[in-house]
Amino acid sequence: SAAEKGGHEYFMLKEIEEQPEALANTLRGHFESGRIILDEQRISDQDLRDVDKVFVVACGSAYHSGLVAKYAIEHWTRLPVEVELASEFRYRDPVLDRDTLVVAVSQSGETADTLEAVRHAREQKARVLAVCNTNGAQIPRESDAVLYTHAGPEIGVASTKAFLAQIAANYLVGLALAQARGTKYPDEVAREFAELEAMPAAVQKVLSTVDQVRDLGRRIADSKAVLFLGRHVGFPVALEGALKLKELAYMHAEGFAAGELKHGPIALIEEGLPVVVVMPSPKGRAVLHSKLVSNISEIQARGARTIVIAEEGDETVRPFADELIEVPAVPTLLQPLVSTVPLQVLAAEIARTRGYDVDKPRNLAKSVTVE
Ligand code: G6P
Repeated sequence: SAAEKGGHEYFMLKEIEEQPEALANTLRGHFESGRIILDEQRISDQDLRDVDKVFVVACGSAYHSGLVAKYAIEHWTRLPVEVELASEFRYRDPVLDRDTLVVAVSQSGETADTLEAVRHAREQKARVLAVCNTNGAQIPRESDAVLYTHAGPEIGVASTKAFLAQIAANYLVGLALAQARGTKYPDEVAREFAELEAMPAAVQKVLSTVDQVRDLGRRIADSKAVLFLGRHVGFPVALEGALKLKELAYMHAEGFAAGELKHGPIALIEEGLPVVVVMPSPKGRAVLHSKLVSNISEIQARGARTIVIAEEGDETVRPFADELIEVPAVPTLLQPLVSTVPLQVLAAEIARTRGYDVDKPRNLAKSVTVE
């Protein structure tokens, strides 16, 4: 009923709007007496200090949350982080031992490939930490430690609030490692946590773009394809934006690292093709920002219809944006939490306009329990 959907036509829009709460609930209780604390933990502080490599294994959107986390965890801990599709992980003989931490990210906690990856990692004596949205699911049950995302039940098949919560939880894992290993001072850990705690309010602000993005979605709903470009943490956001569009609107969509444009994707640009560009902050990553501005001018000159997600007040990008969607200024590593939101809304609205069931896309299941 409409009431269950919070007055919306579909659950996904309700779940998109629940993202500030999902983030706040995921962070709650994880910083006490100046320390990051995880949930159930059968990995000692000494084990965390001994970790010499991190793997994140997951599928779908959860995998994209891992790609985002790699930037933060490597930066904070100086540990190498590999992010791997769970379906590839155990078939290629990954190098694992007791000093490897494997972070298994899964909303449902039941995804077959992720579960098998967990089992493989434990057989190889690696320590496994589950990031999961479902209490008592199989993946947390078989892991050494658990950090629950508290996004609440997610009905829409395409992940939204669980994805944002996964990013926040992965960041808590990074901070817990940095704390145990001493690669960040306690006051730095406290400051990073405070920045995370400011994100529910920032995401709430992004929700004020929903009407603008839905209107845009209706206008580009008959496109053949949409491309997504990003750099740094904006790259996994581009991949997630493309995945959402494939899942919901059955449209050909690809995400690219903007730096790869000249190595192929630019050949795809043709008159009227919508290209969504996820801009970094002009202040935070000025070099990347100016490179992306020149990418946008290049694709616009070749006829692309540029849709630009940029920090509010970013004037340099304005002349190259056929559509400008402004998101609040936040620290670079936290940008995915705001820049993903318009891409979720865009995919949902394109799907709705094309007459598809936004909550139950064809051929997809919420939880894929067979390989
Ligand atoms: C399915 C869902 C996706 C989800 C993926 C991984 O494909 O449709 O939204 O990202 O599974 O699910 P998990 O429960 O492991 O996070």
